[in-house]
Amino acid sequence: MRPIEKSARLQSLPKYLFAELERKRYEAESAGREVFDLSIGDPDLPTPGFILDRIAEHAREPRNHRYPTSAGMREARAAIATWFADRFKVEMDPGREIAMLLGSKEGIGHFPLAILNPGDEALVSDPGYPVYAAGTVFAGATPVRFPLREESGFVPDPRDLDKLVTAKTRLVFVNYPNNPTGATAPKGFYEDLIGWATRRDLIVVSDAAYSELYYAEAPPSIFSVPGARERAIEFHSFSKTFNMTGWRMGFAVGAPSLIEALVQFKANVDSGAPQAIQLAAVEGLKSLGVHGPALRGVYRERRDLALDTLRRVGCPMRTPGGAFYLWGRVPERDTSMEFVTRVFDKTGVLLTPGTGFGAEGEGFFRIALTSSVDSLRRALQKLETLAPWKAPHASPSPITR
Ligand SMILES: Cc1ncc(COP(=O)(O)O)c(C=O)c1O
Repeated sequence: MRPIEKSARLQSLPKYLFAELERKRYEAESAGREVFDLSIGDPDLPTPGFILDRIAEHAREPRNHRYPTSAGMREARAAIATWFADRFKVEMDPGREIAMLLGSKEGIGHFPLAILNPGDEALVSDPGYPVYAAGTVFAGATPVRFPLREESGFVPDPRDLDKLVTAKTRLVFVNYPNNPTGATAPKGFYEDLIGWATRRDLIVVSDAAYSELYYAEAPPSIFSVPGARERAIEFHSFSKTFNMTGWRMGFAVGAPSLIEALVQFKANVDSGAPQAIQLAAVEGLKSLGVHGPALRGVYRERRDLALDTLRRVGCPMRTPGGAFYLWGRVPERDTSMEFVTRVFDKTGVLLTPGTGFGAEGEGFFRIALTSSVDSLRRALQKLETLAPWKAPHASPSPITR
């Protein structure tokens, strides 16, 4: 038999950057060294008991033991439409404009396969959640990266995006509150973006997985801009809002033609999201008035503790407006990977190198605020032993094709 090779598309994805860090972590743990993991964006807190109770109840209903539908249960979609109207002041049709997903990643990764043709181009942010580019590559299309710059608040200007558009460009991905930078979209951003996308006849994919994790104003939906209804799809997640990463539940809201394409694609690769979890998750939305502020309070305390400590040791950190990440500049002369490796070797604290999110992440590192205040405090004490941190380097690159 010939040696089995991975598909060319799979092989063309960036090399797995974290393998070396994972090896180091394994060695350290095997040697009995304490490891403080600030690298994984996966909530340490459990799924709220009221959701677990509902999952258990719905799991006993025989109707939920059979195949779900690809678009999701009508009653789940109706509950989402109710929440969407209340939270974002936008009415969406549960029949045509909402679909349930096996986590938002499933929808984000599959959407390009439902819409793009080989040779098409998609604009993806750099740094950014790697699934935008991966889904585009699996569709045989080309990801064209646009930089998110610190001096612009990690938000792209449509005039800069315009320089990257060709006849092959079909869609653009945006993500606010942002992973990895913690940036939120300023007022008017979605108006400008949709205005530009309309002139260029592009589809807009808005990843709103962190919409309920914010520190000041609640972020809007892209559908607060009327023109979005014809050309946008927005991905939402229960993962971070309800500490439900393991249950895999999310949903898409958007233009009927985009939702229909995604659901048709899904009908060919999965059989929909488990119904007991759909029902329990959407019931959770009713509790957001109480659960949301409590959850945001938890992350605010962690954020403030980490910002205070890191700034004190000389590391300039931007205050994030949302999500549960801190994005900092590595000290001078180190690459992101060198810095993260050095920090781990000296302290046992595991950070994420900015280059894990694209080349523009060079010179940055990410901290996930997904450890208890006690473990975070201990990890920060370790980081303090590295003080003083030297001035950071700046390396803005021009937007060119
Ligand atoms: C920006 C962003 N979008 C989407 C997701 C996917 O989340 P899920 O598939 O759990 O809904 C993540 C997960 O980390 C993320 O960071």
